Amino acid sequence: MKHRVLQYGKLMPSLEKQLAEAFDWVRLVDQADPKAFLAAHGREFVGLATAGFADAALIDALPSLKVISSFGVGVDKIDLEAAARRDIPVGNTPDVLNDCVADLAIALMLDVARGIGASERYLRAGAWPKGPYPLQRKFSGKKLGIVGLGRIGHAIAKRALAFDMDIRYHNRRPVMDTSIAHEPSLVELARWCDFLVTIVPGGAATQHLVNDAVLDALGPKGYLINIARGSVVDEPALVRALKDRRIAGAGLDVFENEPQVPAELMALDNVVLVPHIGSATVETRAAMAQRVFDNLVSYFDTGKLVSQA
Ligand code: NAP
Ligand code: 8YV
Repeated sequence: MKHRVLQYGKLMPSLEKQLAEAFDWVRLVDQADPKAFLAAHGREFVGLATAGFADAALIDALPSLKVISSFGVGVDKIDLEAAARRDIPVGNTPDVLNDCVADLAIALMLDVARGIGASERYLRAGAWPKGPYPLQRKFSGKKLGIVGLGRIGHAIAKRALAFDMDIRYHNRRPVMDTSIAHEPSLVELARWCDFLVTIVPGGAATQHLVNDAVLDALGPKGYLINIARGSVVDEPALVRALKDRRIAGAGLDVFENEPQVPAELMALDNVVLVPHIGSATVETRAAMAQRVFDNLVSYFDTGKLVSQA
């Protein structure tokens, strides 16, 4: 008999095909009245495949649930405590996305420092014949502060070394097997570096880690790159700092209220804005989808996930 698996949110069609073949699979989004459906059928599901969300209400509505498999490495929208209370393991998709997220971090730094997007807009607007584009800032050889030297942070550091960057990082605990210098104070890291890249998990522990004090320490020649979660940066404080030129610029992949981006941010030219595309390549999304599937299959076959959050 096939295990009954509920899908919450939209997943890639290729993954949905795999889920449909392997499991007794139901999409909550297809139900006319999802709440009534959960009340009537919630007890039947042993697996949950989710696009990244599972709050306590959803977990409670599935009293026979044994395993959650989530698309993405970040599990800040999953109530891990509610899952742990019932010994439900949560699968995620680490490592397979490190390269692409790190690539984008470098791209955002290059773009905001060299004005790639802004100068392209200048060219397309027909402004070039009126004069050359203003000089921008050099990227190679600058100081990089990484907030969160984990899996993706290491991949960013590896790339930054090829640009001859001087690197330090801030974590709550120093990493054992690295020659990169640990900076216990985030404010001091911001004061030291030219580029501050955030790549920590979202959630309460990192809420507004980057605040006015950190932005002021980064200063008028410093750039902030947020590729972690919107919640990690105090967005109104960032908008003020960018408007007042208290920092040089920002490259943002994530926002506090996605997919809404404040109009004030959109109006600024010293900021590069992209719509949460860190992992969004065909290759990486396929690997993430495969891991969502493999986590479920592995759990039902062996009682263990391939990767557990
Ligand atoms: P990871 O390997 O767990 O690394 C996270 C790092 O953050 C660890 O080194 C951790 O060290 C540090 N950290 C955690 N809490 C901290 C705090 N309060 N203050 C300072 N440092 C803290 O995770 P990962 O795989 O690299 O992924 C990191 C995050 O990136 C994900 O959780 C997700 O939110 C985000 N992400 C974004 C995208 C995107 O598309 N933009 C894609 C993938 C991931 P300590 O525990 O020692 O502090
Ligand atoms: C995805 C991410 O875009 O893995 C993560 O934590 O933020 C990204 O890879 C997201 O999880 C899927 O929507």
